[in-house]
Amino acid sequence: MEVNGIPLGFPVSFMQIKEMTMLYSCAMREICTKLENLSQEFELKEARNPIQHINHRLKKTESIRNKMLQKGLPLEYEVMRDEITDIGGIRVICSYINDIYAIANMLKQQDDLLIVREKDYISNPKKNGYRSYHLIVAIPIFLSSEKQIIPVEIQMRTIAMDFWASLEHKIHYKFEGDVPENIKNELVECARMVSDLDIRMLKLNEEILAITRERGR
Ligand code: GTP
Ligand code: MG
Repeated sequence: MEVNGIPLGFPVSFMQIKEMTMLYSCAMREICTKLENLSQEFELKEARNPIQHINHRLKKTESIRNKMLQKGLPLEYEVMRDEITDIGGIRVICSYINDIYAIANMLKQQDDLLIVREKDYISNPKKNGYRSYHLIVAIPIFLSSEKQIIPVEIQMRTIAMDFWASLEHKIHYKFEGDVPENIKNELVECARMVSDLDIRMLKLNEEILAITRERGR
């Protein structure tokens, strides 16, 4: 049996799952609106859109359950609510590395957002080569008679980083985590190339902007 595509199988009640779906959907909608507003302002002032696209997903109860078991947490609704910060997940794909930091800084300045955690895997890539910028924020959701603070994980990446991460994810899944050494090494090498490409594309774009400005004068 499923509720809104979420298979049951986690020992929380039907009402709790419905409530969770509602709360996290509200939180993701609020954050997506914030990102769209920023993107619209960018378009107006800078005549370009740094956000290529935005995806969002609600973590399946099955994945929440597995994550809680992995972390040795008791399978209780309150524990899930307090400990699992990526039930609501948003992915923002940008063109250039500096767009990611610009958007992250803008979000950090919004005083209705609480910054729960920041992980910069662009400055500090993971050993496997994974690069992205993660920001966990919490946002107040105003309901009819109460306010709830809901966390949302925002992952920000360039198109090239996203290309790498989706392939790596597929490979990881295919080999059930036991990826052959040569493939692992090749992925690390590809990550290095992706990083070089991101830097070159950023520099190229800056050069183009400088020339455009020069000619516009
Ligand atoms: P979880 O991974 O959510 O258990 O928590 P964590 O503390 O390890 O957080 P982290 O910020 O490392 O990862 C959160 C999310 O980022 C993951 O669920 C993935 O979506 C993504 N991610 C992290 N590491 C990798 C990676 O090596 N490869 C890929 N493809 N995605 C990754
Ligand atoms: Mg992880």
